Amino acid sequence: MSTLALLGGEKTKRKPFPVWPQYDENEQRALSEVLESRVWWRTPGTKTLEFEQAFARFHGARHGIAVTNGTAALEITMAGLGIGPGDEVILPDFTFVATASAVLFANALPVLVDVDPDTYCINPDLTEAAITPRTKAIVAVHMGGHPADLDRLQQIARSRGLALIEDSAHAHATEWRGKRIGSFGVAGTFSFQSSKLMTAGEGGIVISNDDKFERQARSVHDCGRMPGEWFYSHFIYGSNYRLSEWQGAVLNVQLRRLDEQTKRRHHNSRLLDRLLRDIPGITPQKLDPRCTRNGQYAYIFHIDRKEFAGISTERFIEAMNAEGVPNQASYPPLHELHVFRNGEYKKRLSGEQAKEQHAFLRDKFPATQKAAWESVWIPQPALLGDEEDMHEIAAAFSKIQKCARELA
Ligand SMILES: Cc1ncc(COP(=O)(O)O)c(C=O)c1O
Repeated sequence: MSTLALLGGEKTKRKPFPVWPQYDENEQRALSEVLESRVWWRTPGTKTLEFEQAFARFHGARHGIAVTNGTAALEITMAGLGIGPGDEVILPDFTFVATASAVLFANALPVLVDVDPDTYCINPDLTEAAITPRTKAIVAVHMGGHPADLDRLQQIARSRGLALIEDSAHAHATEWRGKRIGSFGVAGTFSFQSSKLMTAGEGGIVISNDDKFERQARSVHDCGRMPGEWFYSHFIYGSNYRLSEWQGAVLNVQLRRLDEQTKRRHHNSRLLDRLLRDIPGITPQKLDPRCTRNGQYAYIFHIDRKEFAGISTERFIEAMNAEGVPNQASYPPLHELHVFRNGEYKKRLSGEQAKEQHAFLRDKFPATQKAAWESVWIPQPALLGDEEDMHEIAAAFSKIQKCARELA
């Protein structure tokens, strides 16, 4: 019988990884307080207000607007910047759909560009080349927690008069040159959905150091209201994106653990980098030396199938999961999503923009292709384990490599 767990052998990983989400009596107490206070609504409440201020401060920003989810955070950012019909927003082809759908929601065109082949974050040269007179903003996605090249992107945005937005859904507490991400541009958006680095099941936030933007974005998230004005005055287009007090209360507690958990995920990931060096065909996402702390939403690595008897990425994932190491497939390239291929996205556009042939439907995106179809993710809860856990992860890689022929 094979030694591979997938084929009936024993699992490599016996000790379970830490569970996720994490909570203790502090979340329980915070939730009871909200319950008993009978203030469950954000508007008169204090918990969500307290949280958005604390989260913004933690990331070096003056303002935080807590919202219903990370997609909403991006939508509000587009609206707060006045992005609309005829505008273009540059973003990576390799990201979750929300980065692009928020642009479509604003009736603007997402312009997709390829990523850096080593960090899987937006390629600054291609970003610069994609700028047209209609470009209004660039969205940097800090992929898997690793920051995009903020030096270059900041310089490009400043010199071309564009807004830089950081989609930081994966990157709570990530640092670039010792400074936490989220306010290198006009706005940083985060998600608190269940798989994220801290969570209330759902939730999101926009942070900023730009007073004018903040005023607009806050108003958008609260039905177009303005501070100090009558409750039924609505000054601009807005909607209800407010986060509840339940979520605010939980996130206050989750935030207190974030620094410690980030240190652990970063430390364990560097240990994995060293351990996986001995496994031919495995190339971890490269850590840019300017990234002084990686929030590490996932441990992403490229797998060279030739070194694994030619097995598919899916087969590798199956075998790893069977060994007890949770791992999953990557995002598909955005330009291959049905919404782009079937032309549905054009229904959000108008005028000339709706009739044009968009370059991203012809482009090849070689780095995104590799990232999408040949990379694998170990989700963040596994990185909260101890060093022994990391050694066991590495042992699972070795075992699968040794027995890969049986999987072919
Ligand atoms: C890069 C990125 N941006 C935005 C989002 C949207 O966040 P949410 O699921 O909270 O709407 C996600 C969620 O996974 C994401 O991964």
